[in-house]
Parts: sequence; C-alpha cells; structure tokens
Amino acid sequence: MDEPVIVVTRRWPGPVERELLRRYPGAHLNSQDAPLGFDGLRTALLEADVVLPTVTDRLPAEIFDGELRARFLGNFGVGFNHIDTVAAAKAGIVVTNTPGVLTAATADTAMTLLLMAARRAGEGEREVRAGAWTGWRPTHLLGTDVTGKTIGILGMGRIGTALARRAHFGFDMPVVYYDGSEHADSHGIPGARRAASVEEVLEVADFVSLHMPGSDENTHLIDAARLARMKPTAFLINTARGDIVDHAALVEALRAGTIAGCGLDVFEREPTIPDGLLELDNVVALPHLGSATMETRTAMGMLVLDNLAAYLAGREPSCRVV
Ligand code: DGY
Repeated sequence: MDEPVIVVTRRWPGPVERELLRRYPGAHLNSQDAPLGFDGLRTALLEADVVLPTVTDRLPAEIFDGELRARFLGNFGVGFNHIDTVAAAKAGIVVTNTPGVLTAATADTAMTLLLMAARRAGEGEREVRAGAWTGWRPTHLLGTDVTGKTIGILGMGRIGTALARRAHFGFDMPVVYYDGSEHADSHGIPGARRAASVEEVLEVADFVSLHMPGSDENTHLIDAARLARMKPTAFLINTARGDIVDHAALVEALRAGTIAGCGLDVFEREPTIPDGLLELDNVVALPHLGSATMETRTAMGMLVLDNLAAYLAGREPSCRVV
C-alpha cells in the first residue's frame, strides 16, 4: 500500500505525534483536540484506511454499516468498550488496544484515590484553598488508617494485581479478590485469597477497588443491593469504567452512610458528573486521570504505532482485539 490515509481522533503527546508524522508524513492530526462525534468518526471510517481513536470516541454497531474504507482501528487505550468490536470485525476491520503499558500508572491512581478518600485529603485541600483552615487541632478532619486494612479487588487482571501488590507490600494490607476466571492464584502476594463471589469481597473488604472491563455484563454490577453488602466503614474505588457503578445508587449509599466514602476516576457519562455526587464531602473525584503520565501516554501511543506497523507489514499486531 502507498502511504495509508491515517486519521488520529485526538491530540497525542508530542513525542508520539512527532514519531507518527516521521513514519507517515501525511497523517491527519486533530489540531482542535475536540471529539469528532458520530458524523466525524463515520467520515473518518469512510475516507481513511486507518483510524486511531480513544476512549472519548463512541463507535457503535451502526457506524460500521455499509462499505467503509477503514481497515484498521488502533485504539489509544486498553479499554475498548466504546467500540462495537463485533460490528468492526464484521466490517473487516482489525482492532488493537494498548494493554500492559498503563498498568503501573493506573494502579498508582487507584492507590492515590484510596489514600485520599481514607485520609480526607480532598476535603483538607479544599479547606486550605478556601482560606478556611484555622490551625491544628486534635479532632480536625480525622480520617481512617489504611495500613493493615483489607483491600478487596474485583477483577484481578494486570491493574488489579498491581494495586494489590502496592497495597500489600506498601501498606501491609491483606488482599481478597474476586475474578471471573476459574483458577485461584495468589498472584505472588502472600496470603492473597480468591473469594467465591463478588459479595464475599464486598462484605469483608475495607476498601473495594474495581478493575474489570466495561461490558454489558458488568454494567451496574455495583448497584444498591451490592453497595448494601459493604461495611458502613468501607470505601469504593473506581478507576475502571464509570458504568460498572450505578451512580444514583452510589449517591444514595453515600448520603445514607451505607458506605463511608468513595474515590472515582471514571463516571457513567463523562465528562458529566452524576447529580448529587459533588455535594458530598466523602467523595474524591478525578477527571479520568488513570493513565495520565507523560511516560505512560507516550508508551501507549508508541504501542498504537507498533500495532499499526505490524498490521501494515502484514504481521499480526501484538495487541489485536479482533
Ligand atoms: C484506557 O486505557 O482504557 C483508559 O481508560 C484511558 O487511558
């Protein structure tokens, strides 16, 4: 193939955009960095050989209808629940993602949220910035200890395991986890115990962190009934996908004291924050920063380019999804 027509849907870190243009000087970058929307993405699929989308690009089944020019979708990100991969495969499009390179950064974000929620760091920061801090006192903003508390991991894949290791080796936290896969494994973490069900994790953990993929099956996995299984002193942490949690039920549980607090990096309809959430002091909210380090985002972009290079050379891309 001559140089393929390539469309990148959002701005990428400088080193990756430069490398992309070095390899494919005609590649179309999104200088506005605004999401293309359905029509823009459809046009890209009709007119380009290669489309390089990310989590903000929704690619439902109907966008793949009819004759398309696109043959390769290289997703900038590990999660691909925003792409109907069955429809993409039917349209003859290869889809790749970027697993592995964002594991540490995302586990660090989960640990950050856990610590911030437990130690009321968001509340303290807001107080200082508001000029409302009146000085040290023995009863001021008392949080809860993290060391020695039980961490519950739902979804013990790469990121779940990386968080479990941080929690166990850094904070002496016993680990209990649930994962859909059949085999029990300690994942190299002394004493890590595989629970028999999601509910068992919810009932025993002091911190519950979500690490399963977004999918129809996992939508609202954490609903009112499951929140009610958690300890009233426990915290929920989510760096996976927003729609795993029923946010209306979460707001209700936080208001009612069913759980102690939460740390969220992802939301059901980003960038909209669900009603009521930000009125609650026991919520720490971040704007989907899981993988947001220069090193990690650069590695993600380079992996997209590696996958593309393999595809164009007629080899199997290392991170092929379909
Ligand atoms: C991912 O990789 O899926 C993140 O959500 C965006 O980096």
